[in-house]
Amino acid sequence: MKKVLISPSILTLDFSNIQTQCAKLQRDGADWIHLDVMDGIFVPNSTFDWQLVSQVKQAVTIPLDVHLMVVDPINVVDNYAKAGADIITFHMEAAKDVVATIKAIKKSSCKVGISIKPATPVAEIEPYLPLVDMVLVMSVEPGFGGQKFMPSAVERIAQIRALNPDILIQVDGGINTQTAPLVKKAGANVLVAGSAIVNTDNWEKAISNLR
Ligand code: DX5
Ligand code: ZN
Repeated sequence: MKKVLISPSILTLDFSNIQTQCAKLQRDGADWIHLDVMDGIFVPNSTFDWQLVSQVKQAVTIPLDVHLMVVDPINVVDNYAKAGADIITFHMEAAKDVVATIKAIKKSSCKVGISIKPATPVAEIEPYLPLVDMVLVMSVEPGFGGQKFMPSAVERIAQIRALNPDILIQVDGGINTQTAPLVKKAGANVLVAGSAIVNTDNWEKAISNLR
């Protein structure tokens, strides 16, 4: 496996043309595609559902990394798994029963990610680390692309890395060529980036610069 994986967020792309653009992201070196699902309840914005995931699945062969920002994620796990998700990440703050949600994702044959918002103490996910494949550390308040990186994420990543040397640590929000080196040094190995890739006119260069 490459040392650091890049998972471009499609949040600000034109959804009417999503298959062509995701195929281009794959050609330009993306390791995964990051799909931000928002329900307008857990976060003050709503985006798309599993139907878009299923469209993207038809356009690429790289893993689909689905970031569920929805309340009661357990209720939709099967829809996203059937649509072609490879990794399903949910917010522990949004789940009534965290262990049951992890089990439901495993049962669907997807890899499991668990995410925490910037204000949630790292200690709260510690008990779940042995049960999941990936932890997603949010470095902005979830809801919108293009926000400023919160430096507190660096220490949070380092704390999780100290607890587990092997787990995938993904970081999401405000990742660019300035912030990527800081999070990598702290132990992150999957970088989500939206604006730092899709708002440039050379996606291939933007992806390789982040890596
Ligand atoms: C925010 C989303 C992010 C966002 C990242 O809630 O989870 O994936 O699209 O966008 P940038 O890289 O522009 O901060
Ligand atoms: Zn995301």
